[in-house]
Amino acid sequence: MLTADRILELKKEKSVYIIAHYYQRPEVQDIADFVGDSYAMAVAAKNSPLDTILVAGVDFMAESAAILCPGKTVLTPEPSATCPMADSVDIQHVLEYKERYPDSLVVSYVNTPAAIKAVSDICVTSSNAAKIIAKLPQDARILFIPDENLGKYIASKLNRSLDLYPSCCPIHAAVTADDIKEQKQHYPGAEVLVHPECSPEVVALADFVGSTAGILDYAARSGKKQLIIVTECGIMHSINKVSPGKELILAHSELICPNMKSITLDKILYSLENRETVVSVPEPIRSQAVTALEKMIAYAS
Ligand code: 13P
Ligand code: SF4
Repeated sequence: MLTADRILELKKEKSVYIIAHYYQRPEVQDIADFVGDSYAMAVAAKNSPLDTILVAGVDFMAESAAILCPGKTVLTPEPSATCPMADSVDIQHVLEYKERYPDSLVVSYVNTPAAIKAVSDICVTSSNAAKIIAKLPQDARILFIPDENLGKYIASKLNRSLDLYPSCCPIHAAVTADDIKEQKQHYPGAEVLVHPECSPEVVALADFVGSTAGILDYAARSGKKQLIIVTECGIMHSINKVSPGKELILAHSELICPNMKSITLDKILYSLENRETVVSVPEPIRSQAVTALEKMIAYAS
C-alpha cells in the first residue's frame, strides 16, 4: 500500500486531524485535513473536531496548537523542524525592554517559542499584524519581535514607529531586488507577489504583499497568466490546485525552507503509528502564552 494511502487509513482509524502549512511538501499538503497559513493553522487547531492533532509545520506552529488546545494531544512528525528566526529571540532582551519601558507593549510574531509568547502582550501573524497593531493604543511604545522586515513593512503601512528586533527569516531575506528585476525582465507582464518577510527593497517591487494565504487568494483572483512568487516554493502547489493554468515563476531558486521540508510522509506515518512525538508546553508557560494567542484571535476577527 502507498504511504499516503496508509496515512489516510490510519488517521481515520486513530481519529487524528492533520493540519499542514502551505510550505509543506505537495504530498504532505495532499494528505492533510486542513492546509493554511500560520494564523489559520492556529484557529484550525483551536476548532479541531478531533482530540488528536498532527501538525505538519515547524515547531512554533505545533506549539501554538498545544498552547491553544490544552485538552488535546498535539503530535509533531519531526520535533527538530524549527524556525531559525523564531529561535533567534533572546528573552533577556525582551525582559530588559519591558523593565526599561514599563508602559510598552510587546507584540510578537507567531514565529516565536512559547516562552517568548508568555512574556508578550499579543501575538500577530503576517495576515493580521497591521489590523491588530492599528487597534493598539496610538501612544503606546511597541517592541515588535522578531522579524525586522515584517516590522518595517507594518510600520510603513501604518505610518507608526515600532521598536524592532534585529532578526529575519534567512530564506526570505536572501531574495534581492536584483533577483526580482531580473525576473521582471524575463516576464515583463507578470505580477510580483511578495511575503512581507522579504526586505523592504523587495517589498517595494511588489504588486501584492501578504501572508501565504493572502498570496494564494491574490494569485487565484489575478487576471495575469504569469506570477512571480516571492515566498517559499511550497505555496506553488496550493496555487496550482486553486488556480491551474497559471505560470508560476519562483523568484529565487533557494526559496526553500529546509525545516519545513524535513517533514515527510514516512515521518507522518511513523508519528501516527507510534503516537509520537507529543508536543508539550510546561503549564506555567502555556497559561501565560495562551493569553497572547487568544488576544490575537480576538483582535484579528
Ligand atoms: P504565514 O503566516 O504567511 O503562513 O507565514 C509563516 C512563515 O513562516 C513564513 O515564512
Ligand atoms: Fe521560519 Fe523562514 Fe522557514 Fe518561515 S520560511 S518557517 S520564517 S525559516
